[in-house]
Amino acid sequence: MRSSRSSRKPFKKPVMVRSRVENIASAQRLLDQISQNPEVLADLAHTHVISARQFDRETSLQIIRLAAWFETKPFLPHTPLGGKILINAFYEPSTRTRCSFASAWMRLGGQMMFVDNSTSTGLAKGESLHDIMEMFNNYGDVLVLRSNHAESVYEMMSRARIPIINAGNGEEEHPTQALTDLYTILQWRPDLLQTNLPPEQQIHVGVIGTPSRMRSIRSLLLLLSNLVTSIRQVTVFSPHEEAFAPQQLEELESVGLKLQVTSDIESVLPDLDVIYINSIIWKETRHEQLLPDFQLSSNSPLKTGSIVLHPLARGEELDASLDDSAHNWYFTQARCAVFVRMALLLCIMNRINQVTELIS
Ligand code: CP
Repeated sequence: MRSSRSSRKPFKKPVMVRSRVENIASAQRLLDQISQNPEVLADLAHTHVISARQFDRETSLQIIRLAAWFETKPFLPHTPLGGKILINAFYEPSTRTRCSFASAWMRLGGQMMFVDNSTSTGLAKGESLHDIMEMFNNYGDVLVLRSNHAESVYEMMSRARIPIINAGNGEEEHPTQALTDLYTILQWRPDLLQTNLPPEQQIHVGVIGTPSRMRSIRSLLLLLSNLVTSIRQVTVFSPHEEAFAPQQLEELESVGLKLQVTSDIESVLPDLDVIYINSIIWKETRHEQLLPDFQLSSNSPLKTGSIVLHPLARGEELDASLDDSAHNWYFTQARCAVFVRMALLLCIMNRINQVTELIS
């Protein structure tokens, strides 16, 4: 028998470690620390976004500044992307990337079409990606593409007359996730922007996962090179012998990141300031758990004040017992995705001039 309205339990607000007010205050602090440089953002107009390598320090910080501005302004006075159409093409499952791009685009007043899996387009009938891209050129103004094949984004790009944003291509890259991760880290510690941070204030970043096989980690490490003066060490914990792809380690070290690889996580965990963990990768039509024996939980020896980040979706490697702890910054990270993508989309659509005066 259904309970009557009066006998129902009162609505209990779910526990939120960081409130919206706290997030907005963090965004405001960050906004105050970065000077505006609209010319750098203007250079992003009509560009494809394929790799985190495209974002040098100044470009990353200007995108983050704009994201912080959007986060502090939940209600925009106008809709700068009115009349524009985004094609949100996801040939692999996604919650955060797909929905945060949609949310970002709609908050800016644009319209959207979804292509949800490989069976909903002519791919299922053997149509080439080249031909599909020819159609997308006519049907939309920007393409957001997620594919489990690393090469698909390049095939589409060779026929594209509209900008393409790589929303995750196989094991290769996830550049907009990395921008989101950087924004989250800087919300936590805006002082990391200082280029003369004393050694005792520099951070130790732990990456639990395999940079050669995880696109989010690969892109994050590339973007962390923009904060080298504030990172004293990056320690990678991977169960795999080939933690790095050929040349990957050399490239990161050449830009100044101090990297070490170990499988002994317990001894280093108490020293880490940022713990970035990921385990799931998508292979063909199923997911694979790359850290089957490892779990981070509220019983783990985490340093006071340290934060845990995870691009999500999570498996058993990140226990829900951490959700209600102050280490949980992974939900803030997922929230930050909307504002970073708003900033990026506005720049790529060449509409930055519509907010320049507002953000100064
Ligand atoms: N962070 C991320 O890429 O998550 P989704 O797979 O849900 O998009």
